[in-house]
Amino acid sequence: MKIGIVGATGVVGREMIQVLEKRDFPLSELVCFASSKSAGVSLKFKGKNILVKELNEHSFNDIKILFLAAGRKVSEHYAPLAQKAGILVIDSSSFFRTDPAIPLVIPEINPHALASHKGIISSPNCTATIMLMALAPLHRKKRIKRIVAASYQAASGAGARAMEELKGETKAFLEGNPFERSVMPYPYAFNLFLHNSAVNDEGYSEEETKVIFETKKILEDETIALSITCVRVPVLRAHSIALNVEFHESFSVEEAQEILRKAPGLTLQEDRKEMRFATPLDASMQDTILCGRIRQDLYHPNTLDLWVVGDQLLKGAALNAVQIAEEATKLGITSKTSGSLVTG
Ligand SMILES: NC(=O)c1ccc[n+]([C@@H]2O[C@H](COP(=O)([O-])OP(=O)(O)OC[C@H]3O[C@@H](n4cnc5c(N)ncnc54)[C@H](OP(=O)(O)O)[C@@H]3O)[C@@H](O)[C@H]2O)c1
Repeated sequence: MKIGIVGATGVVGREMIQVLEKRDFPLSELVCFASSKSAGVSLKFKGKNILVKELNEHSFNDIKILFLAAGRKVSEHYAPLAQKAGILVIDSSSFFRTDPAIPLVIPEINPHALASHKGIISSPNCTATIMLMALAPLHRKKRIKRIVAASYQAASGAGARAMEELKGETKAFLEGNPFERSVMPYPYAFNLFLHNSAVNDEGYSEEETKVIFETKKILEDETIALSITCVRVPVLRAHSIALNVEFHESFSVEEAQEILRKAPGLTLQEDRKEMRFATPLDASMQDTILCGRIRQDLYHPNTLDLWVVGDQLLKGAALNAVQIAEEATKLGITSKTSGSLVTG
């Protein structure tokens, strides 16, 4: 099975290559695409060099599964072309996520949504994915009524250039040198600021709107009320989220811990004695999402507070996309266009 990655030189694309290798994804050939800027760059996969090709409309010969990790515009243009060519597209951009006809999948949570795919499958927003890995198992037991959240998001969530900017600006700050920013709108070293995506008329940033919409779509529950404030923090990798979650009935801390201890893809990290709770450094490079600090809200009934941390380049992006491909392969789905299922 020939597999393609578009955006292979980006932070998510590079992680995808490593995830495919680490999980020994069954493929015959890996083809890597980027823009003309990176054509000819050499990337390593299973000890071999792969030369990056410039993406164009004739790029997809014989490819069975195509991962798109190059932003909304590339997905908008190339996903339908690949879909028409009978390729199964797994898209990490936000472009198709709001389309009711496109499944938005976290394999541990809603693998059944894959059945309705028509050749394109969306992988969700990184903050939504990390948050839902902890909330979905709780929601399944006692339905969630309302979520109030604040996120602490890493630089790599904004791509490779944002990571470099944080490193460069921190170095310049410590050396007392001036620094010219080109990615982030505010000073980033020793600072934090509200998520740098556009703000709508109601005052919500695009990132906040994505988390709200995608939570309802993935949990298949339109009644959940959700309020979130997304913040960029000077962390290189892994997002953290503080959550206050109201359920339709009472939930003891012990009961919630018991459920989360058994939840797939999640590790409960609760060491109150040693004051040891998850940090972004703990979660970096880890497939598992870390969760802890589970407390009863002292003033509001049926409500728990919790803390969730996850590597947004892995479970929040590359790992989730590869898991979707694994699940699709397991189900025998390779491509489906115009309603006819092609299996193999
Ligand atoms: N970063 C995250 O934590 C995260 C999480 C979830 C989802 N996502 C999504 O994943 C996608 C990639 O994000 P990223 O953070 O990896 O960004 P990135 O580090 O900036 O990488 C972007 C990639 O897209 C390629 N690219 C840009 N324009 C292209 C074009 N016209 N044709 C072909 N390739 C093109 C770039 O190639 P060049 O090297 O040639 O510029 C690079 O490989 C985005 O859709 C993003 O929303 C990111």
